[in-house]
Amino acid sequence: MPALNINGKEHPVDAEQSMPLLWVIRDIAGLTGTKYGCGIGECGACTVHIGGKAARACKVILGDAVGHDVTTIEGLPDTHPVIRAFAQLKVPACGFCMPGQIMQAASFIKLRSDPEDDEIVQAMSGNICRCGAYERIVAAVKQAAGAQR
Ligand code: FES
Ligand code: FES
Repeated sequence: MPALNINGKEHPVDAEQSMPLLWVIRDIAGLTGTKYGCGIGECGACTVHIGGKAARACKVILGDAVGHDVTTIEGLPDTHPVIRAFAQLKVPACGFCMPGQIMQAASFIKLRSDPEDDEIVQAMSGNICRCGAYERIVAAVKQAAGAQR
């Protein structure tokens, strides 16, 4: 049986290789922090890291994820600068989009430690927030990027 490394732990996965990674994460590994929004790669709710880079778990199949390290929101430490900044600036409203927002931001700030606001807006533009927390998201991503310098 193939196994998938999620958050540093091997999870045996008895499923079709074509199963979306999102279902593997939520229904087989039982990690429900990663959310289902649109299912077509358009909302960002399902964002995880594959090999350290942000990816849409609804658009990646199990067969393409096996052999790569998958990280979900549960795998990010509470001390991560993005988690801290989102908490300090009270970014979440309903919170539904936040795991995806945080994973997207965590991937982005690895590349840019001093981003301009418009770069942050661009980087986060694929992550929809129905509560409209966009201004706080940009501020928190900026703070998190600065915190790692
Ligand atoms: S659920 Fe994957 S991008 Fe919307
Ligand atoms: S905080 Fe509610 S959808 Fe973003």
